[in-house]
Amino acid sequence: MKSDSNSLILAIDTSCDDTSAAVIRDGRSVLSSIVYGQGEIHSLYGGVVPEAASRRHTEMIWPTVKLALEQSNTEFSQLSAIAVCCGPGLIGCLIVGTSFAKAMAYASNLPLIGVNHLEGHICSVFLTHEPVFPHISLIVSGGHTSLYLARAMGAYEEIGRTRDDAAGEAYDKVAKMLGLDYPGGPLIDKLAKNGNPKAVNFPRALIKGTLDFSFSGLKTSVRNHLLLNSNISTEDICASFQAAVIDTIITKLLWAAEIHGINTLTISGGVAANEGLRQRLLSLKNMRILMPPKEHCTDNAAMIGLVGDYYFRQGAVSALTLNPKACLPLTANCG
Ligand code: KG4
Ligand code: ZN
Repeated sequence: MKSDSNSLILAIDTSCDDTSAAVIRDGRSVLSSIVYGQGEIHSLYGGVVPEAASRRHTEMIWPTVKLALEQSNTEFSQLSAIAVCCGPGLIGCLIVGTSFAKAMAYASNLPLIGVNHLEGHICSVFLTHEPVFPHISLIVSGGHTSLYLARAMGAYEEIGRTRDDAAGEAYDKVAKMLGLDYPGGPLIDKLAKNGNPKAVNFPRALIKGTLDFSFSGLKTSVRNHLLLNSNISTEDICASFQAAVIDTIITKLLWAAEIHGINTLTISGGVAANEGLRQRLLSLKNMRILMPPKEHCTDNAAMIGLVGDYYFRQGAVSALTLNPKACLPLTANCG
């Protein structure tokens, strides 16, 4: 096994509706990062259809990996290891990526490294910033809204999580109510810029005494408001909904920072690409805010490559019997 300083990792993530592959040098330099999104398939249904997503992954996995290798001028023989996301995610989708990676690792006699998708998101910020520990990390995506106390690579304690919908899920469902395409987050973000955030005072679920989140009440409140007010502007609804999400997220992040006496905050996941949220975070005083660029917020394989490189150097290689898991806590690996 080559675990010298010149590592070259091929990374793959097929956890949801993006087929992604990347080539990462030395755990930092992104030589290529290809993300084939399936938005046009799922927008017909207003959300991800798991079976359709897995089928598309099977069609796109090889073209995506091939392009990642080509764009980085990498031959299989130059690779040090193959890192693959092994959960959490949609099981059919995960099976496509892990089966492909296992076959490639076996055929080319390369070490296989299973990587937790959530650890990928947390560490995505380190593709562009020097690693800083300890910090408070918020993953805010379509499937997750969780707060972690990150002490070191591989040492994360969950200190809060959503009790119902993830923030991105709320974005997508509100977008559907407004007749907007999937994924709704970027569209709401755009429309919110031209709306009045104070037009409707939507509830902020700040559940006292906990760092947990809840977004389902907000979603229902938007729905009820739309049923009773047919003439309100879409921009105002988007701006008011987004203001409620951002207020909630910022409040919890600041509580977490205060409780744990840590002023370095990182955010990751699709909703971390939100322009309104990014601006509010940057306006916070006395806080060190680290955010990945937008292309590293949404699902990508580069973040899997960074984490894969770390475990590769630790000698934490997975067996070729690696099995993906739909529910995979951050503290567990896939074996
Ligand atoms: O991290 P991600 O690509 O996939 C998951 O692991 O879930 O996140 C996708 C989610 C979707 O719900 C999408 O609507 C949301 O991130 N999203 C956004 C923005 N861009 C993507 N939400 C709000 N504002 C955005 N700019
Ligand atoms: Zn994700």
